[in-house]
Amino acid sequence: MYNETLEWIENALDSLHETGKMGSLHWRATYTEEDHKALKLLERWMREKNLEVFYDDIGNLFGKIEGEQDKIVLTGSHRDTVKNGGKYDGALGIICAIAAAGALYEEFGKPKKSVEVVAFCEEEGSRFLSGYLGSRYFVGQLSDDILLERDANGITLTEAIRHAGFSGKRAQKSLQMQKVERFIELHIEQGGVLEQSGEQVGLVTSIVGLLIGKITIDGHQNHAGTTPMHLRKDPVTRAAQFITEMNQWAMAYNEAVTCTFGEIQVFPNKSNVIPGSVSLSFDIRSTSPAILQEARMRIKNLQQQEDGFRYTLEFAAPNAPAQMDEDGLKLLEEAAKKLHLSYRKMHSGAGHDAEMVAQNIKTNMIFVPSVGGISHSPLEYSKMDDIGHGYLLLKEFLREIAWGHEEEKA
Ligand code: GLV
Ligand code: MN
Ligand code: MN
Repeated sequence: MYNETLEWIENALDSLHETGKMGSLHWRATYTEEDHKALKLLERWMREKNLEVFYDDIGNLFGKIEGEQDKIVLTGSHRDTVKNGGKYDGALGIICAIAAAGALYEEFGKPKKSVEVVAFCEEEGSRFLSGYLGSRYFVGQLSDDILLERDANGITLTEAIRHAGFSGKRAQKSLQMQKVERFIELHIEQGGVLEQSGEQVGLVTSIVGLLIGKITIDGHQNHAGTTPMHLRKDPVTRAAQFITEMNQWAMAYNEAVTCTFGEIQVFPNKSNVIPGSVSLSFDIRSTSPAILQEARMRIKNLQQQEDGFRYTLEFAAPNAPAQMDEDGLKLLEEAAKKLHLSYRKMHSGAGHDAEMVAQNIKTNMIFVPSVGGISHSPLEYSKMDDIGHGYLLLKEFLREIAWGHEEEKA
């Protein structure tokens, strides 16, 4: 039975990955043709495993096993991928959740508490800047500003939601959220700590906070050959200087903060033209709200400079650092011991839907080792043996919480 399930998970990962193929690139952005294909597959698998399928108004997909009580245990992850991403980020958490809920229903029948599997939309922010849209919506934190964000083709989030057939109507708190008692997300580690230490699973204790956005620097566009160096206002050199300063600032904090400028666009992007403008994304992460605030001030200070450049700043909606639930962590430790799995309690430097959900609901995460610590890359890979351990732990946790006899503490 276990081997059959692992085979099912492996095949499902391959099939879901296929839905994101765009020529030589892999990218499953939300509300696209690729997303639609993925949803059809996920719906089919949910039904095959006796889950009742429904959507909320932003397009989060749910599969439900009705329980005896009016309480819900939620599990799952996000279905979108970064541009040129891999097979496991997000997908693994949904597929393992479908497999675990289906297997438990087959073994034990109707649960005490309902179990819902969620496939959240647009976590990665690779189409709309703020990201975590499905989980933000779920906890009632999707603001008007986010709904007006535009993708690279100028389509607003509201337009994209409607085009995909969802109303986008917001309730203050989504109806399911009010009944959800716990959330658990299984995810690949996306780093190399578990592989190095040899522990079989990671139990997440906290998730990093993020400061994300975009800086546009306008200078003076001119001829590359006739304009002497001292008469230029080249925004690329200014951007390079700022990137270097920010990297030095982050390095001085040792491990306490990361700083990345991953998306840089130069206009007009021609070799014989001094650029007129450059825009750069920033992605700054820390568990310290004070460090994130310092980074925000450093970026805001750009607008105080009187250096002849014009600075336009755009900050995405904030993501505060999150703590995972202590009782849930203890339960996971006990379950890992019962299954004879070695584990490590660890922090997450990657952002997750769990971070949003944790603002309102007791939340935990299970990490599966990533080979070479690689993620957000086509080389992302996790071994099936390791995936199996994560799956078994998720299943045991769900069994205990939703089918078990122990009443939750209030
Ligand atoms: C989400 O995957 C992130 O950490 O950027
Ligand atoms: Mn992810
Ligand atoms: Mn990701």
